[in-house]
Amino acid sequence: MCGIAGYIGHRQAYPIIINGLKRLEYRGYDSAGIVVNDGRQFGLKKTKGKVSDLEAKCKDLPSAHVGMGHTRWATHGVPSDRNSHPHLSNNEKIALIHNGIIENYDSIKKVLISKGFDFKSDTDTEVLVNLIQFFQDSENLNLTDAVRYALNETIGAYAIAVMDADDPQEIVVARLSSPLAIGIGDNEYFIASDASPFVEFTKEAVYLEDGEMATISLHGGVDIHKIKDNAKVSLVIQELKLNLEEIEKGGYDHFMLKEIHEQSQSILNTMRGRLLVDEGIIQMAGIWDFQEKFFNAKRIIIVSCGTSWHAALIGEYLIEDLARIPVEVEYSSEFRYRNPIIGEKDIVIAISQSGETADTLAALRLAKEKGAFIYGICNVVDSSIARLTDAGSYTHAGPEIGVASTKAFTAQLTILTLIALKLAKHKGTLSKERFNTLIAELETIPSKVEALIKNVEEPVKKIAENYAGVNNFLYLGRGLNYPIALEGALKLKEISYIHAEGYPAAEMKHGPIALIDENMPVVVIATKKGHYDKIVSNIQEIKSRKGKIIAIVTEGDVQVKEMADYVIEIPETSSYLVPILSVIPLQLLAYYIAILRGSNVDQPRNLAKSVTVE
Ligand code: AGP
Ligand code: GLU
Repeated sequence: MCGIAGYIGHRQAYPIIINGLKRLEYRGYDSAGIVVNDGRQFGLKKTKGKVSDLEAKCKDLPSAHVGMGHTRWATHGVPSDRNSHPHLSNNEKIALIHNGIIENYDSIKKVLISKGFDFKSDTDTEVLVNLIQFFQDSENLNLTDAVRYALNETIGAYAIAVMDADDPQEIVVARLSSPLAIGIGDNEYFIASDASPFVEFTKEAVYLEDGEMATISLHGGVDIHKIKDNAKVSLVIQELKLNLEEIEKGGYDHFMLKEIHEQSQSILNTMRGRLLVDEGIIQMAGIWDFQEKFFNAKRIIIVSCGTSWHAALIGEYLIEDLARIPVEVEYSSEFRYRNPIIGEKDIVIAISQSGETADTLAALRLAKEKGAFIYGICNVVDSSIARLTDAGSYTHAGPEIGVASTKAFTAQLTILTLIALKLAKHKGTLSKERFNTLIAELETIPSKVEALIKNVEEPVKKIAENYAGVNNFLYLGRGLNYPIALEGALKLKEISYIHAEGYPAAEMKHGPIALIDENMPVVVIATKKGHYDKIVSNIQEIKSRKGKIIAIVTEGDVQVKEMADYVIEIPETSSYLVPILSVIPLQLLAYYIAILRGSNVDQPRNLAKSVTVE
């Protein structure tokens, strides 16, 4: 994972890099480091901890116009000062930062040790910088060629940036499976894992493709070549759509809270230009252009991880129920390694907020190789998954910075609903009247989300106060609310570190019921149209064992209200749309419990936003 930010140009490099690292900190935050070249030598600082810890150490960093920084998510070697990036070569002439994993680091390390190199860190990264020095010395190569030689000996995943102490005019970068963007200004260049570090300086960017490297210099501009055979690649400059306000907190204490509150707007943005209620249509070119493929598909397989996998489970219910096309949902990491049977009549859909998740990317590549039609549902525009797929639909939720996914999830549910409804309409599995009723209801969701947040935030805070001290939580739901139970539990564990489990409510009696006693809070999603009577019985079963019930119910509910210890009401809507609403109180509950427990909700321990390693 990790974030990379670099600069070469006429401005002071340090403030640009340090601000860039702050914006990228969501990608990894166990250590940070920076190197600049003042024209005579490297100035290097690195530390275990956050970018703010690095900042405190940088007071005496020399003034320079070229440099690069890193915020780490450790894969090899504990977070420590010496394992932090940048890493220097033995002769201290080459500095390197790396996002990813060098899988064959051990064998390279042994060879380098036999040639007299020594190693100061436990990272896989340090072998790469020494291998570059080895090629520079033994073959008398310039930096670019030495980097290329070294990468051709490397197996694994990387985005790297490399500087040579003797050449303050250039930075060499390369990518394989980890993202790297180059911002192009007026005789100045920015390097970053995503465009957020340079959005206020330029709207023009080049995204390196897998297997490409670039030499960036003030005299030569951006010169891109293939790593494998050095073939020249022409520059494709893209216009950035991102703006500064979108990546700032806007008065909220945390990005997560801001993103929860943004959901009425982000759902509206997902539907914008697609949901045309007056005309009675859903406009989605990605589906329309390939609808025959969808109708004739043997099955759809949705691959994803984490929260996106929960959205996929809801997608399965929606597409099967409305469009009557068989759907299977798989964890990307399992799918890619189990030799799945896939052919040309299969459609593989990847759902990914970041569009960079390594396992999902690999699962898609596998599906593509086997001839399947591959479709992407991504939030980040021009991300690796978005560029790999045959077609797709962006969720357009805007940048999601909090590590715990919130608005991206409800945007994914919105897109999946649109896809299911559109397929159902054209396939004829849904009547025109029913279609029109459902799209009219979908159009009301943003205002329902807004009202819901306004009404439930205070009651949720009260519940959080009562349960912030517990060690376990259970979440139960049925049907479309079952994945919401999983998502509620995931949100809670990832930011509050409370152990939480989500289950289909009926599964409770096959095991988890043994956990229930007077200390166990159970969140039950018991909305009117979600198998209500069955879930009422499940609540009774919990009550009989003295469990504490926090129920999510439909406005005006009477029956569950009498049984539950706490009740949160959500507005009435179609059963297909309930998950978009029922997840919101659970996001808020996780947030407020985490705050009371003193967690860093935007950057929870051990996690990173964009999981670009397996
Ligand atoms: C969500 O809160 C998590 N941090 C995580 O599970 C995330 O959803 C998962 O890593 C998938 O990421 P993606 O959507 O960017 O592929
Ligand atoms: N594998 C490298 C390390 O552990 C880089 C990890 C990252 O992407 O932050 O240092």
